[in-house]
Amino acid sequence: MKNRLEGKVAIVTGGGTGIGEAICKKFAREGAKVVVAGFPEDPVEDVAKEIQKEGGTAIAFTANISMEANAKGCVELAVKQYGKLDILVNNAGVFPEVNLLQDYSEEAFDYMLKNNLKSAFAMSKAALPELHKTKGNIVSAGSESGVIGIAQNAPYGGTKGFIHAFMKGLAVEQAQFGVRVNIVGPGPIDTAWTHESTGPMDSKMVKNMKVATPMGRRGTPEEVANVYCFLASDEASYVTGALYMVDGGITVAKGPVGDMADSSMKDQPKDSLDLEHSKEGHTSIRDK
Ligand SMILES: NC(=O)c1ccc[n+]([C@@H]2O[C@H](COP(=O)([O-])OP(=O)(O)OC[C@H]3O[C@@H](n4cnc5c(N)ncnc54)[C@H](O)[C@@H]3O)[C@@H](O)[C@H]2O)c1
Repeated sequence: MKNRLEGKVAIVTGGGTGIGEAICKKFAREGAKVVVAGFPEDPVEDVAKEIQKEGGTAIAFTANISMEANAKGCVELAVKQYGKLDILVNNAGVFPEVNLLQDYSEEAFDYMLKNNLKSAFAMSKAALPELHKTKGNIVSAGSESGVIGIAQNAPYGGTKGFIHAFMKGLAVEQAQFGVRVNIVGPGPIDTAWTHESTGPMDSKMVKNMKVATPMGRRGTPEEVANVYCFLASDEASYVTGALYMVDGGITVAKGPVGDMADSSMKDQPKDSLDLEHSKEGHTSIRDK
């Protein structure tokens, strides 16, 4: 089916790379006019140009959209350029570090709060007055790690759990204005993050991630973009407050808390356990 988003105006944050780039291109092919938003160093101009070359309509917006003034500026650009706003995709996010919490840096934690949480807060807040006028919708990036956690980047999973609850709350309070709010929860997707050479994951984590996924592979950004497109379209007119997993089955299988965690982590502490808490009563499993 084509032209599911004909006549719609969409902002896609983090639109210069990975899943966001695929969302921008999918939305444009389905007829939307797209604002491709990203950091100044992101290739958002390239994505907008590629869309234009294909015959679509897109414009780039470069700024840190976690700052309220920039978020407002992004919404203003959409309205100035295309006359309205129908769809906000809160896709921007960061995955800066892989470490056990005792070694996790404060910088990485703060960086995630800004770019994974405050970006969705600032953009949603700025967009809502326009979405009220069009009875539009918001689709935000959650994650399988927001449902079941992720070892070695536990704070990242926490930020995604926040997004799930935040968006569900928004769905309830904004229904009275005709605004729908939904979440897409990708599993391991084939972007820079899930490759040892381009992201913080080591080879073990990359391998475990694939093994833990019943479908046995990473998803493609395009497979995720298809679900964003459905939720953003009028076909999903009775869908709000929903979390759509696009994860190859990893969440309903075991997921990062189980199979993805390195086997060295699945052990009892090396010193003796309080007997009350020892699984085997009076003996430690290790001593058997
Ligand atoms: N790749 C995966 O396996 C995976 C899994 C689950 C969820 N996700 C989520 O999907 C989304 C996209 O991930 P991706 O893998 O495509 O990563 P990516 O790094 O390719 O894309 C994220 C983009 O957001 C931009 N960005 C971040 N903060 C920003 C800000 N404050 N202002 C402007 N731009 C900002 C980045 O520069 C980047 O271009 C993220 O929210 C991520 O948490 C990804």
